[in-house]
Amino acid sequence: MKKYVVEDKLNSEFLVHRSVFTDQQILEREKKEIFNKCWLYIGHESEIPKNGDFVRRKVGGRNLLFTRGSDGVVRAIYNSCTHRGALVCRENKGNTKVFRCFYHAWSFTNKGELVGMPGKDGFSESFNCNGSKNLKEVTRLESYREFVFVNFDDNAISLEDYLGNAKEYLDLVADQSELGMEVLLDPQEYSVRANWKLLSENSVDSYHGMPTHKTYFEIVSTRGGEMSKGDLQGVGLDLGNGHAVVEYTAPWGRPVGRWIPAWGEEGQKEIDEITRKLENKFGKERAERITKKNRNLLIFPNLVINDIMAITIRTFYPIEPGYMEVTGYALAAKGENEEFRRRRNDNFLEFIGPGGFATPDDNEALELCQEGFLNNQEVEWNDISKGMIREQPLSNDEEQMRGFWRKYNEILTNSISKNVEEEKVKG
Ligand code: FES
Ligand code: FE
Repeated sequence: MKKYVVEDKLNSEFLVHRSVFTDQQILEREKKEIFNKCWLYIGHESEIPKNGDFVRRKVGGRNLLFTRGSDGVVRAIYNSCTHRGALVCRENKGNTKVFRCFYHAWSFTNKGELVGMPGKDGFSESFNCNGSKNLKEVTRLESYREFVFVNFDDNAISLEDYLGNAKEYLDLVADQSELGMEVLLDPQEYSVRANWKLLSENSVDSYHGMPTHKTYFEIVSTRGGEMSKGDLQGVGLDLGNGHAVVEYTAPWGRPVGRWIPAWGEEGQKEIDEITRKLENKFGKERAERITKKNRNLLIFPNLVINDIMAITIRTFYPIEPGYMEVTGYALAAKGENEEFRRRRNDNFLEFIGPGGFATPDDNEALELCQEGFLNNQEVEWNDISKGMIREQPLSNDEEQMRGFWRKYNEILTNSISKNVEEEKVKG
């Protein structure tokens, strides 16, 4: 059987075959075995706080409505009319009691029930929907600390079991404010001409930070970011189930999701106050971890939370082996004053927003990889052996990325052996 990941523990060598970034058949298997079976992030509960609120989402290649019905229940409803399939909602977000289809004007409640069909009286008497024409709902929807996920496999394990060790890091994000967290602005949407796994990998790759984002760090240093102090200090961890994290203190400083140079001295009073409250609630050690550390968290397969500078959430999905669509959101502590909120938004847009510094740099790097795979086919393997190890123990070499690849390999090779068995049975 073909191997996609080769791990030689003795020589600390870890290789990933480049076909996983370019092969159409592999992408089809990924859709079936990964995106149809893993928990995928759909949104944050703060995005739909009131009954009737909805946002339109594309998750795992499906058009969904992330809604809070009149009954207060959060749902993921397929945005596809049960008549002839048109999207029943064309708005990106809003509040409504009814979704009315543009095509023949069937209408559905915000819980998905069919409540209106023009000309219904003229339909044959035997026509009786009995609920069968309601909008379909994704049956598996679960939430952890207001992060909401869906799963298209009804037999999937629970979200909490799936998240496993990653829960601790979601807690560290969610605990940053006693009032809770909220998603700000509208999402940022963009595409990258690169394989989706390059972004999963990049999100926990500390090694690329300084060279790829050199321009940004130079600017940071002009604003008192103290880049001269140098290296990142921290750990990179394989959290199991394909999840991974890099947690570190950085020379730019970052108390409680606030990037110091952008906050200035006025912000310090507020930061001290938050820190004091967190210490009272969680004790000094945990409060320090919440307030002082940066976290790049990867939840397998395609959710990235950058708890660095401003806090960002990103998801992505492959359209082709070498092309993905990305959606990014800014997350913040509730109750911030207006000026600090403005600074946070500036920092989000300036750093991870698609027109900022970090994202175009990263996209450039990922697109160069994708180009390189096509132009340099005699080199068949990517090397995940060497990485950034600074403070002890910033883990073994690239352990966090390897965690992702181990899970990926397990899913793909199991799916291959299953297919082989199926073929044998058929044969
Ligand atoms: Fe929606 Fe006909 S497709 S009413
Ligand atoms: Fe980057």
